[in-house]
Amino acid sequence: MPSSFAALPEPPCEVRAFGHLPEWGRAPLPLIEAGAEAARRAGGDVFRLRLGLPAVVGFSPAWNRRLLSDLETFVSAGSFSRVVPYLSGGVILSDVPEHAGRRGVLNPGFGRRAVLALQERVRRAVPAVPEGPFDALAWADGAVLRALNAAYFSGEADERLLHAFLAPLRRPFPVPAVPRPLLFRRMDGELRRLMDLRAREGGRDDLLGFLAGVPDGLLEARVSLAAAHDTTTHALAYALWQLALHPEWHRPEGHPWVLKEVLRLWPPGWMGSRRLARDVDWQGVRLPGGAVALYSPYLTGRDAALWPDPLAFRPHRWAAPPPAWAYLPFGGGERTCLGLHLAQSIILTVLEGLPPLRAHWGDARARPGITLGPAGPLVVQRRAQVSTAVP
Ligand code: HEM
Repeated sequence: MPSSFAALPEPPCEVRAFGHLPEWGRAPLPLIEAGAEAARRAGGDVFRLRLGLPAVVGFSPAWNRRLLSDLETFVSAGSFSRVVPYLSGGVILSDVPEHAGRRGVLNPGFGRRAVLALQERVRRAVPAVPEGPFDALAWADGAVLRALNAAYFSGEADERLLHAFLAPLRRPFPVPAVPRPLLFRRMDGELRRLMDLRAREGGRDDLLGFLAGVPDGLLEARVSLAAAHDTTTHALAYALWQLALHPEWHRPEGHPWVLKEVLRLWPPGWMGSRRLARDVDWQGVRLPGGAVALYSPYLTGRDAALWPDPLAFRPHRWAAPPPAWAYLPFGGGERTCLGLHLAQSIILTVLEGLPPLRAHWGDARARPGITLGPAGPLVVQRRAQVSTAVP
């Protein structure tokens, strides 16, 4: 007989009546780390959170595999994405059987080969780094916006509107959850204008040109842009910072491992959510249908049982493949990030064109919002310049 959900370990909370909501709002990373510790002490790999509704968080490869492979039980409808209008729609919120059809249509446009064809225009769009000291986080933000404008719209989208559309996503909760009908209407108007241009004039082999030809293409464009920007910006900013701290890794052959290591330690998608479509027995515990089920690339990527010296930044560890279902910065299974190739291509293209950097000062502590990124700023400077400017 499975034991009840209430028997699951959980992290401490200050005021029992509020459950974990205050801690979740204030400092979710220490909360989930304490939860994982409680689960380990109890000999398990899941813990529960009380977030106004029952939630279960797991972090072992076995849990990740189950959650990411059993798409009939672990569904997106009713997950946290629904709370954020930016992410609430299109492929992100579709479920079996519709999801496979949507991905089948979208995958070719975002596949490795299609993204390779966009690389040159991305390279041309990336701005040069400033001459003096600059904030790598702010610079990455602008560079990724330009790169996405190039890849999606051949650089034709109104950059100020794009920036305004994406800005609320970067703010702490509840700002990203606030409905913004006017802003969304303006963005949709711009997407429609650019789609019409492609229909009328043709000749633009960019992502919007592809999306214009798929069902719900405008919605998929808007939702995927929202999924693309901060995730890619945060990963790029951490990569710039780490290269400034570890200049010996700043060479094109080293960059893929640097990026992998950045995404292991600071996965922008630090927590993925689903809803349980039915009761599930997990290692002797009955998880109730309707509960929120979460996996955490952050917890799994820092688990000492899976990674030697897990908190150390050691790109060299990527000489060997990671354990299965232990490295999930882009999720896994059929719902693996649609933009995986695009994000990697943008980041590696930017790194390739980057001069050697030196870290000045900054706050690289992880700050989790909709995506996880550095608290910032992260002030860096070209190396050659530093050696002439500072004797
Ligand atoms: C470093 C950058 C990125 C990271 C770390 C990242 C991370 C993720 C993760 C972890 C998931 C799975 C979420 C889950 O299982 O609930 C996901 C899904 C998704 N990502 Fe990304 N992402 C990045 C960039 C992008 C880009 C550039 C796009 C643009 C197309 C994108 C579009 C999407 C979409 C549409 C999904 C939903 C896929 C589905 O449900 O089938 N992402 N991403």
